[in-house]
Amino acid sequence: MSHDDQAGNLRRLMSQARQTRTIAVTSGKGGVGKSNVSLNLAILLSAAGNRVALVDADLALANLDVLMDADVRWNLSHVVAGTRRLEEIVVNLPSGVQFVPGASGLAGLSDLSEFQRAKLLDDLGALEADNDIVIVDTGAGIGPDVLKFASCADTVLVVTAPEPTAITDGYALIKVLTQRDYRGQLSLLVNFAPDRHEARQAYQRISSVARQFLDARVLDAGYVLHDSKVRDAVRKREPFVLAFPRCPASRCVAALATKLCAGGALVERKEGFFRRVANWFA
Ligand SMILES: Nc1ncnc2c1ncn2[C@@H]1O[C@H](COP(=O)(O)OP(=O)(O)OP(=O)(O)O)[C@@H](O)[C@H]1O
Ligand SMILES: [Mg+2]
Repeated sequence: MSHDDQAGNLRRLMSQARQTRTIAVTSGKGGVGKSNVSLNLAILLSAAGNRVALVDADLALANLDVLMDADVRWNLSHVVAGTRRLEEIVVNLPSGVQFVPGASGLAGLSDLSEFQRAKLLDDLGALEADNDIVIVDTGAGIGPDVLKFASCADTVLVVTAPEPTAITDGYALIKVLTQRDYRGQLSLLVNFAPDRHEARQAYQRISSVARQFLDARVLDAGYVLHDSKVRDAVRKREPFVLAFPRCPASRCVAALATKLCAGGALVERKEGFFRRVANWFA
């Protein structure tokens, strides 16, 4: 075998071994804890030895950076404007997570010029290739960007609270994704759970209706307990898994991280996540 063939084989092996897993954290109703879950999950997945990138993909109202005391000078709006390269806006958090600060006030992917959008998604694709897991914190609701990010992800983690309004909106999101033929793993996480029992009830309500009316399988990602330490940590601008590693919410996110690592069956894909998002516009 020639040297070139060997190098080619090695590259192919490496790229197979390096398939990146993308997890879109999303919700029907706003304020149910997506950003807190995304950040703290990213930190624990990184602590478990994965190379993790965390992207604030709420293009209208990005605020993930508020949850940490990171030195965020630039964000995706600068990349879109062409004044900074993606590498320059990425913040290397002390936990090892590569954090991409989101833009506030960008109207949406479809409002970017074709050039801006292609460049942005290309750059994000390169970051994706350098990581094992990409966590995408989306905005709430069923807007076009949320649906594109979610449809393209290997796992969609739908976050809900146990209240009926949040459950209804979570179900609506699952319904739209199913109607769009979503092929990855749809999982439900119940945040603000008063206890295990209520979390279970909320999961069962959504999953049984999804099975009955949509013929969709919703996996049980577990729950995060309502925990006053979450608010304390937010006030201190510290991720709660670092500020209070043994608090109930931290233990729940640890269980979630373990579950996600264990259930990591990937859909075979020819292209990366951000490439798939870009294809929506082709
Ligand atoms: N398990 C929890 N226990 C107690 N408070 C929580 C919990 N999870 C989140 N919170 C609180 O709820 C608030 C909203 O959380 P977060 O910003 O993560 O939600 P979000 O879904 O990202 O919101 P948005 O839809 O606006 O992006 C936070 O200020 C946080 O303090
Ligand atoms: Mg948020």
